[in-house]
Amino acid sequence: MIEFSKRVEPITYPIIDMLELAREYSKRGKRIISLSFGDAVRASGFKPPKHVREALIEASNDEKNLYWAFYGDSQASLEFREAVAFYERRYHGNEVDPDDVFSFLGTSEGFMYLNAVLINPGDEALIPSAWYPAYPNYVYLFDGKPVTYEVIEEEGWRVDVDRMRRKITPRTKYIMVCTPNNPTGSILKEKNLKEILDLAAEHELIVAFDELYDQWVFEGQHCCIGSIGKDVNIIGFGGLSKNWCLPGYRMGWCWIKGDEKFVSGIKRELKKLTSTRLSASTLMERVAIAALRGPLDEVREYVEEISRRAGYCYKRITETDGLSSTKPEGGFHFLPKIERLDRFRDDQEFALELLKEKGVLVVPGSFFGPVGASHFRETFLPPMEVLEEAHNLIEEFMRRLAK
Ligand SMILES: Cc1ncc(COP(=O)(O)O)c(C=O)c1O
Repeated sequence: MIEFSKRVEPITYPIIDMLELAREYSKRGKRIISLSFGDAVRASGFKPPKHVREALIEASNDEKNLYWAFYGDSQASLEFREAVAFYERRYHGNEVDPDDVFSFLGTSEGFMYLNAVLINPGDEALIPSAWYPAYPNYVYLFDGKPVTYEVIEEEGWRVDVDRMRRKITPRTKYIMVCTPNNPTGSILKEKNLKEILDLAAEHELIVAFDELYDQWVFEGQHCCIGSIGKDVNIIGFGGLSKNWCLPGYRMGWCWIKGDEKFVSGIKRELKKLTSTRLSASTLMERVAIAALRGPLDEVREYVEEISRRAGYCYKRITETDGLSSTKPEGGFHFLPKIERLDRFRDDQEFALELLKEKGVLVVPGSFFGPVGASHFRETFLPPMEVLEEAHNLIEEFMRRLAK
């Protein structure tokens, strides 16, 4: 009998399990409408921006530069690191030294390295509830303990900093912050981010900042914590997956800011890890440079369209008896509340019944942590006619429950 590593045991990704169940139903001939997965290309019908697609073709035909097929710098090429610094300055007012940028195979790989370099067995990471599932998973992978902090739904999913304070222990290593947020669709306001930074400064905690959806803002403005945090150690994450509709290219990055000791220390450790995997994705760095330095017109058109779709979904949810929601402000998803859950054991049974009876696939909110219980996550990416059909079915489902 092979004994597998105990580290992987607590890791779950139930969104994929639900997706597989839906595929089973689909194979048996049931029509499935997916409001589940945050894949901007497959779900929405959007194409990656033209100049970005052209950059890939050009790079892969670039004989002079060996088709960008060689092993590159394991941290990332200087040209790529300068492009990240350019983007951060231009769109976020965030001054980043190109020397302090790394590239990853998606931000997901970056989160894994974050925990690899920070978490010793028993160390704690403060992660939001509701969370993005990779946050707790990678803490578990390094024998750490994810500790959730609360957000207040009634106040637009604002982070409750007073309650966060009570979760800090001598083992707390970092606070994970995500805005625009998956799964809640909220945008954290500057005031709230400043409160988090003050708390981090007081307790000398690192802030990990996930801004993967930074261009997907419908209401208000994205505030980058790097542009307001002076005396805090920060590691910020961005990538191609959401802004530029390129999730399958697996390209993400991080920038690091803070005191000299932190920056040089974390860079030293990250360099060991990135060199173990030899190289960043040389070809994808070419694509990323075009994306980061290029125009955002196409992306902005998509955001405008998705904002319309998000508004439609919000309206339909609030018009449906037994459901309620805060207004989505950005990102790809939101987290409606199931007010009438009495017929079900929990939100998982609700989502399974909705799938079985109506063929509408949503994600049970409890998959995103305690705050998500009695909710479901819905993506507003699909075209309007798909959203309309899905909401008609959800409404029928809720009407039957009321009888
Ligand atoms: C909030 C958030 N962060 C990070 C990721 C990981 O994305 P990737 O690894 O494609 O960069 C996702 C993907 O859905 C996400 O929603």
